[in-house]
Amino acid sequence: MTISIGTAVRFTVNGVPVVAEGPGSRRLLDVLRDDLGLTGTKEGCGEGECGACSVLLDGRVVNSCLVPIGQVAGGDVRTVEGLATDGRLGALQEAFLQGGAVQCGFCTPGMLASAAAFLASRTPPTDEAVREAIAGNLCRCTGYTKIVEAIQVAAGAEVPVERSEPPEAPTWGAPFASPERPASGEPATAPPSLRVPVRPPADARRPDLVAVRTLPEALHRLAEGGYRPIAGGTDLMVGLEAGTADPSVPLLDLWALDELRGIRLEGSGLVLGALTTYAELRASPVVREHLPAVARMAGGVGAVQIQNRGTLGGNLVNASPAGDTLPLLLAADAEIVVQSVRGERAIPATAFWTGYRRTALAPDELVVGVRVPLPPARHVVFRKIGTRRAQSIAKASVAVAWRTDESGAWRDVRVALGAVAERAIRAPETEAVLEGRVPARDVADEAARVVAREITPIDDVRSTAEYRRAAVARVLRRIVLEGGDAVAEAKLA
Ligand SMILES: Cc1cc2nc3c(=O)[nH]c(=O)nc-3n(C[C@H](O)[C@H](O)[C@H](O)COP(=O)(O)OP(=O)(O)OC[C@H]3O[C@@H](n4cnc5c(N)ncnc54)[C@H](O)[C@@H]3O)c2cc1C
Ligand code: FES
Ligand code: FES
Repeated sequence: MTISIGTAVRFTVNGVPVVAEGPGSRRLLDVLRDDLGLTGTKEGCGEGECGACSVLLDGRVVNSCLVPIGQVAGGDVRTVEGLATDGRLGALQEAFLQGGAVQCGFCTPGMLASAAAFLASRTPPTDEAVREAIAGNLCRCTGYTKIVEAIQVAAGAEVPVERSEPPEAPTWGAPFASPERPASGEPATAPPSLRVPVRPPADARRPDLVAVRTLPEALHRLAEGGYRPIAGGTDLMVGLEAGTADPSVPLLDLWALDELRGIRLEGSGLVLGALTTYAELRASPVVREHLPAVARMAGGVGAVQIQNRGTLGGNLVNASPAGDTLPLLLAADAEIVVQSVRGERAIPATAFWTGYRRTALAPDELVVGVRVPLPPARHVVFRKIGTRRAQSIAKASVAVAWRTDESGAWRDVRVALGAVAERAIRAPETEAVLEGRVPARDVADEAARVVAREITPIDDVRSTAEYRRAAVARVLRRIVLEGGDAVAEAKLA
């Protein structure tokens, strides 16, 4: 099914069936505002940072500026206009109004979308949990206290709510109150549609989008050549908007490929499908039990909107040296499983990233998943150094994996680093310092000295080489010291 000029994407907006036309990579935001006149949804940054364009898609909060309309086929969209009933404000809107949580109002529709998803999740509305739920929504005038209180009031909570940590795996990414999408991508019933007038292509930055239903179909398309895969679009849609991605190449939509989804234990390892989102990684009991560092890493990516759409495969292939999954997978000795019509192969993570934003993937290959071995008694730790908790791309990141032997010494040590070179790297000299040593202050100091010497970071918009070197050394030192504490605790127990 090719979605292009003259073909239609059917979905519902606030319960009303609609048809949108135009290239399948048009932004959901543009269809809502320009075609449907639903101007409650705002455009701020246009690149996923501010949350002003947030809406609910199949019950999950997403940035509509990053969602290609072709991926909305058969879906259910809720905008701020859908929160009112019969022209009367909903409880959440009333709470914002009465609580002084609105000033200029620009951020409010997006805030309400995030808040609605949060309330529907029935997560206890602690201060921390509410703040995390709206971390992807920027407000330039109200300050967040009144917004947080309004959400707590709407949740029926007494304000102020006792401060506590948010749950490790919040449920507010989970779908609510939306019909399940049938496999065909079409609405379950076909009520009369409100047809949207055909528009000329909005601009030349919007390529067509080709939806495929099976992996073999996707691989055949790739073998023909001339397509670029798209998963959650959180990198690619930003690139199209910024003019850094080639708009003349049609997008191959992977989103419906069930073969690329799922998290499962296989043999003595963990298999993560390429389309696994950060929200899924974070919430998965299997990941939390067997590779908790991955669940914690996922909780630190972007904010809820990005976690609901961004995928593991997209992060790997985007190949930013600052990508959060890269050092973790390097330290964990993962293999990237790729497929083409020629067959399947597994590429060790150490050989997958070949340079700045370059990978060993051939043009006709797709990443289908990642295999992570789970050797007994191994620890994996990941730390990201950023400006703030949400929406921060790493200034640098450190991942360390090791196994502790009977004497308390570290074995099979892996140290991997992000954002300190043109690609994510292992640090073999630092690994050699730690291998076979019992973690202690002198070992931690030596490892910190060696890692600072071993890396050659650069100055760029996010940080300086000097800061990166110092921060990586400090973080590694702390990880080693904490490892030493763990050994001491184990001996006492
Ligand atoms: C506001 C914001 C905050 C962000 N925060 C973070 C962060 O904290 N940490 C971080 O690491 N990243 C972050 N990102 C970047 C982005 O969200 C991630 O890199 C995400 O994992 C990309 O996945 P995707 O599915 O959206 O990729 P897409 O945009 O769909 O694709 C990215 C690239 O991968 C290719 N691709 C996708 N899937 C496959 C596949 N299965 N096989 C072959 N090629 C494929 C595409 O062709 C494209 O080249 C952020 C982005 C935004 C906009
Ligand atoms: S407009 Fe800022 S996140 Fe979409
Ligand atoms: S109320 Fe003005 S940006 Fe939030």
